[in-house]
Amino acid sequence: MGVFPASRRNPGYGQGVVTLVAEPNEEERLAQRLRETFASPTYEPPLLPVAAMELIALTRKPDVTYREILKLLESDPLITGRTLKIAESPVYARGEPLRSLEQALTRLGLSTLSDIFLQVSMSTRVFRSASFAAPMEELRRHSVATAHAARLVCRATSLPDEYAFLCGLLHDIGAAACLLALGDSGPKQAAQLTIQQVRKPIWQLHAEVGRDVCKSWKLPPEIMMIVGHHHEPRIGGHVHPLAAAVLLADQLASQAGFPSPVEPTRTGEPENYLGLPDNAVLRLRTETTRHLATAVDG
Ligand SMILES: [Fe+2]
Ligand SMILES: [Fe+2]
Repeated sequence: MGVFPASRRNPGYGQGVVTLVAEPNEEERLAQRLRETFASPTYEPPLLPVAAMELIALTRKPDVTYREILKLLESDPLITGRTLKIAESPVYARGEPLRSLEQALTRLGLSTLSDIFLQVSMSTRVFRSASFAAPMEELRRHSVATAHAARLVCRATSLPDEYAFLCGLLHDIGAAACLLALGDSGPKQAAQLTIQQVRKPIWQLHAEVGRDVCKSWKLPPEIMMIVGHHHEPRIGGHVHPLAAAVLLADQLASQAGFPSPVEPTRTGEPENYLGLPDNAVLRLRTETTRHLATAVDG
């Protein structure tokens, strides 16, 4: 190892050859900080509640019983209470009161009740930030809106919608992880950062980070792939239908008034990798706007 700085050992040194290395700008520095944080062996991704992780695994079991599901849903009283409240809202139960989780399960079915439970789990335990409270709430509403829109897109196009709601809910989880890494668990001075400063680096990295968060949660490989490709649904030269549905849902949710705090504003028609006719996109747009008006906050 030499004693002199590298420039002094450069054969061009003293010959009038100067190499200028540009200082990285603030956005590049933040992107680099994020990459280093996520690559660190001490990094801990946000935690999905145990009951939610078990529920995702249990609902994939072909011989699952109502008893098993109910036992699991009842294991987290705070989330159970909020789940029931949403389950009896006009969006799901036309406002009719539900006396128990068991009644909710019979009336709404396993898949819908599980989706509500996962929405509440994510909202209560994951989309929470002290440093970026307002952008995180905006991201939570965008994610819930995209989940509902993804379900509508799949139903309108006869795509299997088993994972639609969950993928919509999770699609921008990488952005949440970035906000937490730069704010709540970042160094002290990071608390001063504004959403305007962090928006671009988060936008660049969030799909990749999201895929890794899903991996750390041991979610099925298909969900990881969809989250990682939700802005580029072509995988190996082919369009992945559910990734394309999530991308369309993301843009329909934004246009309906639930934009992500980190995604650049888009104008014009939503990206239609599914090849839907114009009138079908228009119908979905109208339906999504109407549905989201009550589904996100109701
Ligand atoms: Fe995104
Ligand atoms: Fe999004």
